[in-house]
Amino acid sequence: MDDRKTIAIVGATGAQGGGLVRAILDEPGSGFHPRALTRDPDAPKARELGRLGAEVVAADLDDAASLTRAFRGAHGAYCVTNFWEHFSPERELSQATNLAEAAQEAGLQHVIWSTLEDTRRWVPLEDQRMPTLQGRYKVPHFDAKGEADHLFTERGVPTTFLLTSFYWDNFIGFGLGPKRGADGVLALVLPMGDKKLPGIAAEDTGRCAYGIFNAGPDLAGQRIGIAGGHLTGEEMAQALGRALGEEVRYTAVSPETFRGLGFPGADDLGNMFQFKRDFNDDYCRVRDLAGARRLNPALQDFETWLARHGNQIPKS
Ligand SMILES: NC(=O)c1ccc[n+]([C@@H]2O[C@H](COP(=O)([O-])OP(=O)(O)OC[C@H]3O[C@@H](n4cnc5c(N)ncnc54)[C@H](OP(=O)(O)O)[C@@H]3O)[C@@H](O)[C@H]2O)c1
Repeated sequence: MDDRKTIAIVGATGAQGGGLVRAILDEPGSGFHPRALTRDPDAPKARELGRLGAEVVAADLDDAASLTRAFRGAHGAYCVTNFWEHFSPERELSQATNLAEAAQEAGLQHVIWSTLEDTRRWVPLEDQRMPTLQGRYKVPHFDAKGEADHLFTERGVPTTFLLTSFYWDNFIGFGLGPKRGADGVLALVLPMGDKKLPGIAAEDTGRCAYGIFNAGPDLAGQRIGIAGGHLTGEEMAQALGRALGEEVRYTAVSPETFRGLGFPGADDLGNMFQFKRDFNDDYCRVRDLAGARRLNPALQDFETWLARHGNQIPKS
C-alpha cells in the first residue's frame, strides 16, 4: 500500500510549484507524493511532470469545483495564483477564495499560501508618496495576496503563509535584466537607491515550501519569509558583470521614472520597488536567509544562481 502523503500543487507547471514537484521527486523517500494541478494535462510541461512521476490532474483556479476535486484525499496543498496572467487583483482574490474553500472542504491538514505583504498596511491609500492603482491598491500584485491571507484563516484552514522574494530569474525572462544604454554599457536599472533587494532562485521558492511540508502542520499559522540573498543594486550589478564578462552599471532611478517606463505593470512594479526601498528593514527582516537555508539546505545564493543561469541572461 502507498502510504505517502499527497501534496496537491497549484502552479506545478510553473516556477514555484515546479520547484516543489521536483523537490519531492528528487527525494524518493520523502513520504510525499506530488499531485500536479494544471489547466491542461496534455500540455508538454504537464506531460513531462507525469513522465517524472507526478500525478497530473486538471484543475482551474477560476473553477472552485475543479479545485475541490483535485484537493480531495490529499494531505496538503501548495496554493499560488498568477497575477501576471491577467493583472487583476480582484481575480486573484476570487481565485484565493476558491482555494481556501476547496482546502476547507477537502479537510486538508497543511496548506501553504504563497503570499506577499499587503503594502497598504505601510502605505495607506491616502498616502501620496505613490499613486493608488486600480482604485484601491498601492501594489496590486502584493496587496491582493496579502488581503487574501484571512480567507484561509477565517475558514480554519491550517495554513503557513510563505512570503516570497523577487526571482533572480526576472533578469532572464521578465524584462528586468541589464539593458544596453546609448553609451553601449549594460545598465541594471532599479529604483532601489542603496537599499538591499531580497532575491531568490525562483525554483528555490518551491524547494523551501518542501521544507515547510516536511516540518509539518506545526508550522500552520506561521508567516515564513524566504530569500537566497539580500543584495544592493550595486552588488547585483557587480556580480552580473562578473558573470556576463563585461561591465554592468547600476543605475538607481526614482520610482516615478520606473513607473513611467511604459511596459505593462511598470506602475505596479515601480510602487513595489518603492515599498521595498522605503520599508527596507521591515521587508528584509522577515526574509531570513538562515531560516530559508534550514528549510532548503541547497538554497542558491546569487553567485551560485549566476553560475548556473548567467548564460541565459540576454545581453541586449
Ligand atoms: N516574478 C517574481 O519575481 C515573483 C516573486 C515572488 C512572487 N511572484 C508571484 O508568483 C506568482 C506566479 O507564480 P510562478 O512564477 O510560479 O508562475 P509561472 O511560472 O508564471 O507559472 C504560472 C503557473 O500558474 C498556473 N496557473 C495560472 N492560472 C491558472 C489557473 N487559472 N488555474 C490553474 N493554474 C493556473 C499555471 O498552470 P497551467 O498553465 O499549467 O494551468 C502555471 O503553472 C505571481 O502571482 C507573482 O506575483 C513572482
